[in-house]
Amino acid sequence: MPDVVKPDMPQGCDVVVLLSGTGGNLQAMIDSFKDNSSPARIRAVISNRADAYGLERARNAGIETRVLDHTAYEGREAFDTALIELIDTFAPKLVVLAGFMRILTPGFVRHYHGRLLNIHPSLLPLYKGLHTHQRVLEAGDTLHGCSVHFVTEELDGGPLVVQAVISVELHDTPATLAQRVHTQEHLIYPLAIRWFAEGRLALIEQGASLNGQLLGPSGHVIQAT
Ligand code: GRF
Repeated sequence: MPDVVKPDMPQGCDVVVLLSGTGGNLQAMIDSFKDNSSPARIRAVISNRADAYGLERARNAGIETRVLDHTAYEGREAFDTALIELIDTFAPKLVVLAGFMRILTPGFVRHYHGRLLNIHPSLLPLYKGLHTHQRVLEAGDTLHGCSVHFVTEELDGGPLVVQAVISVELHDTPATLAQRVHTQEHLIYPLAIRWFAEGRLALIEQGASLNGQLLGPSGHVIQAT
C-alpha cells in the first residue's frame, strides 16, 4: 500500500547547514526544532574547516556531519562544484549559511535559488562584509541589529526576510554589541527557517514573500529594543 499523504499534513523540510566556526546559530536551530513543533529538520551540517566547533554541536545532537576542505581544491569553481555534489546527496529543501566564511560562486547561488538563506550581523543594506559592530560604533549609529536574507549573486544583498533591531548604548563596545546581536540572531534565524519549512516564506520575482504577501525592503522587522 503506498503511503497516503493528506494535503493538510505538514511535510518535512530537510535543511543542510553550512558553517565554518562556532555554530551558535546552529545551536539555536537545534534547540528550536528539537520538539518537532516545526517541519524543519537539520539533515546534515557541512563545514569547510575540520576544527569548526559547530561540527561538535551537530555530533552532540546526533546530526550527520561532513568536512569539505576548500584548500584541497584548485579555485572556487572546483570547490563549489564539489560542495553542491555533497549537499545534494542529502536532498535538502533548504540550505542555510550559518557563519560559512566562503564567498560563493554565481553557479552555486543559482543552483540553490530560492532555497538558500544567510544571516548577517547588521541591518542590511548597511554594513555588508566584516567588522560590522566596530563600524556601527565608528559611525555613531543609534540602531544596529541583524538580518536574514535570501542569497543572490550580490554579496549580502538578496531580498530581506527578517531583521531584528537593537539600540546602541553609549557604553557599548564591539563585544557587547556582538553579544546582543547574537541573541537576536538566535531568535530570527530559527524563525525564518520555520516559516520556510511551513511553506509560508518564498522568494518570488519581486522579492521575499511571507504568508502570500510581498515583504517590504527591510523584511519583517522586529524591534528588540
Ligand atoms: C554570525 O554573527 C552571523 O551573523 C555571521 O557569522 C556569525 C556566525 O556565528 N554570518 P555562529 O558561528 O553561528 O556563532
